[in-house]
Amino acid sequence: MEKIKAAITGLHAWVPEYRLTNDELATMVDTSDEWIMQRVGIRERRILKGEGKGSSDLGEQAVRGLLEKTGTSPDEIGLLICATITPDMFFPATANIISDKVGIKNAFSFDIGAACSGFLFALKTAAAYIETGSVKKAIVVGADKMSSITDYTDRTTCTLFGDAAGAVLLEPSQDDTGIIDYIFRTDGSGRKFLHMKAGGSARPASHETVDAREHFVYQEGQSVFKFAVSNMADVSVEIMERNNLKAEDIAWLVPHQANLRIIDATGRRMGLEPEKVMINIENYGNTTAATIPLCLHDYRHKLKKGDKIILAAFGGGFTWGSMYIKWSFDPMD
Ligand code: UT7
Repeated sequence: MEKIKAAITGLHAWVPEYRLTNDELATMVDTSDEWIMQRVGIRERRILKGEGKGSSDLGEQAVRGLLEKTGTSPDEIGLLICATITPDMFFPATANIISDKVGIKNAFSFDIGAACSGFLFALKTAAAYIETGSVKKAIVVGADKMSSITDYTDRTTCTLFGDAAGAVLLEPSQDDTGIIDYIFRTDGSGRKFLHMKAGGSARPASHETVDAREHFVYQEGQSVFKFAVSNMADVSVEIMERNNLKAEDIAWLVPHQANLRIIDATGRRMGLEPEKVMINIENYGNTTAATIPLCLHDYRHKLKKGDKIILAAFGGGFTWGSMYIKWSFDPMD
């Protein structure tokens, strides 16, 4: 029997309206548009405003739009995975809340927490259910309200992050397109460079942790930068080699959007012309699990069925990975 491949057959993304510009950030901390553009490449990021709003509200919009544009009834969905590190609450999973909000009732749903690699890890997990034949339609949504864990008094991190969600529909492939290969890695010893100090079971929330501002992203930027540059490029080159892909064969690199310099370095190591690298960091900053589907969505009108695409990510954990897909449809909307 021929092996079932999983294919992305629908794509949608959603960002909140509020734009936090570099100029506004410069009124909050000692920074400048020039520094942020030169060192990171971000001009503005979107922020979800409103009391009680969480990542599920971002994810709900992305999934609702995905169902609408693909003409899919919520009843057809058998699995929904949400990649997030900013869940609405510890439990239940944000995936369960999104499913409830959009009326998905016949699915099982759960979260994956792999930081900036979360979308890729979730995509392969969902693909595995499609490949076994046990699920016919799955949704993977990357949703992060990074503003909820960003310390807007810390200039070394507050310029970096934004809020967004992006979602894809996965179905069995009807042809030779779909998810072809992946290389995923983790190195938990990297956690010391990028983590949130309190709020988990090891250091539950207390007056002390709140006073010490320990419920925000902590990052040693330079160390993370070095690991990101080498590891993301390594797995991207490795996946090219083992699939006999030359730079000219690849239509697009879709990299996690953390820093323009990391993205450029990855594209260069792969030997790609800059025009083949999807970049939208300038408009949204680092939206963690949402960057890759948000980027695909922004570039959707340039995607063509059969395009050979490499997705690549690096993030907290450390986690990193690359994925080779043959794109499965011509987005019309
Ligand atoms: O997606 C998750 C994975 N995360 C990443 O991939 C992020 C990886 N790291 C980075 O992208 C970069 O390290 C940062 C963008 C976070 C920082 O850029 P950098 O070029 O590594 O800067 P730095 O930390 O070496 O800081 C250089 C200088 C320092 O001043 P001194 O010590 O040279 O006087 C910082 O205090 O820039 C200063 N600085 C700032 N200046 C103006 C740090 N943040 C700012 C700021 N505005 N926002």
